[in-house]
Amino acid sequence: MTIWIPELESGARQAPRYRQIAESIGSAIATGDLSPGERLPPQRQLADALGVTVGTITRAYNEAQHRGWVQSRVGSGTYVCDEESAGLSFDVHVEGEDNGMIDMSLSFAPHHTWRQQCLRDALSEICQDPDAIAMASRYQADIGNPAHRKALADWLEHLGFTTRGELVVTQGGQHGLDLCLRTLTRPGELVAADALTYPGFNAAVRHAYLKPAGIPLDDDGMDIDALTRLCQRQVPRLVYITPDQNNPTGIALGEERRQQLAELARRHDFWLLEDHVQYLPPEDRGTSLLELAPERTLHVFSTAKVLSGGLRVGTLQVPQRLRDRIASSLRAETWMAPPLMAEAACRWIASPRADELIAWQTEEQQYRQQRASERLACYRPQGQLRGSNIWLPLPEGRRSSEVHALLESAGVRVSTPEPFCTGSEPAPQAIRLCVGSPHTRDALEKALEIIIEVLERGDTSPWSTL
Ligand SMILES: Cc1ncc(COP(=O)(O)O)c(C=O)c1O
Repeated sequence: MTIWIPELESGARQAPRYRQIAESIGSAIATGDLSPGERLPPQRQLADALGVTVGTITRAYNEAQHRGWVQSRVGSGTYVCDEESAGLSFDVHVEGEDNGMIDMSLSFAPHHTWRQQCLRDALSEICQDPDAIAMASRYQADIGNPAHRKALADWLEHLGFTTRGELVVTQGGQHGLDLCLRTLTRPGELVAADALTYPGFNAAVRHAYLKPAGIPLDDDGMDIDALTRLCQRQVPRLVYITPDQNNPTGIALGEERRQQLAELARRHDFWLLEDHVQYLPPEDRGTSLLELAPERTLHVFSTAKVLSGGLRVGTLQVPQRLRDRIASSLRAETWMAPPLMAEAACRWIASPRADELIAWQTEEQQYRQQRASERLACYRPQGQLRGSNIWLPLPEGRRSSEVHALLESAGVRVSTPEPFCTGSEPAPQAIRLCVGSPHTRDALEKALEIIIEVLERGDTSPWSTL
């Protein structure tokens, strides 16, 4: 029986062997040389064939698993992910599934009955408007009905965002990101992002069989010197950035670094994918990359974190020259975002309740951030004053998997760091808490109490006694 054997580079500047093997696995999946469900060669056999140690192969397979390309099954081997298993690392638990669980693992906008009321009002208005019903029942232009595009562009401006180029109506922020990756990249190409970033971006990168590079972050955001060094070795096709609020750490990109990033993008000719889905009010934001480099920035926004996650309406702003390519990808994926949902979103944002809701939510998030930061102060939590997430580095010796499991059994769900890791850097020992998600302030208090108790209790796993 023939086995799949990757070709390794030779020469002085080659990447470590394990990484070359892991990347060959990704490329072989992209080209179809390895198929979904196929078993990778047994580790010893591949080690002998390549003249490397079994440890190198183990590390390579672990790396490929970390990237979401393969999955190891105890006692059986390592298999290329099929459609069922590929989604596992971006698995989400949806509200209402677990009785009694306080879920702080998903960044939902804080609960308010106005959200349902506003949707109900928008839908009843539509039902009473025969022209709107007729419009919603017909196919529309791929990038969206012109009236919706205009209303959404006006709304972005009203919220203080830069508006440039062509506005495309999408089915939410995730769709906007996926559309950009599908349009601008080919399988196997390199894309860069903060070393910790939004898991949905990482999932879309895997889904498109791209090679992710994680750029280290410090207190001022993405390390542009590190990105410059990457460009000297290999220029990424695109750099993804959430400039005002990194998800999960909450770190904002400094103003000078924004300028440097825009200049670097021009010098090396890569695209910038700017994501503002995690909403902050205008006074908490820095200069948009769309303003600094409009000719190469694609800008993603969504109604999810300000109106409602279920609407699935978002905006993608693209440079004029990309309009036709994006439109053709959109047609290939879904023809167009459903006009009924765009109509509901446009009616909702036209009502004064939309602004009132955003103002309420901004205050509520500030209250919750402050409350959680006060209670967890000794653990040095990180987060934006009015942001949705808190990043909590764990005390020395605590592991995020263990703290996650203890919290889950005590009725609080939080996120572990692995889904946020881009590229191959090891995950830090930390957890992410979404302060907006608990249904009420009381539920937040209860969750904080449990988190403190679990952290104070110390490591109770058997390993701590070894
Ligand atoms: C940074 C970021 N971008 C995009 C999205 C996806 O937004 P949507 O729900 O509109 O697809 C999220 C969702 O949490 C996010 O945090």
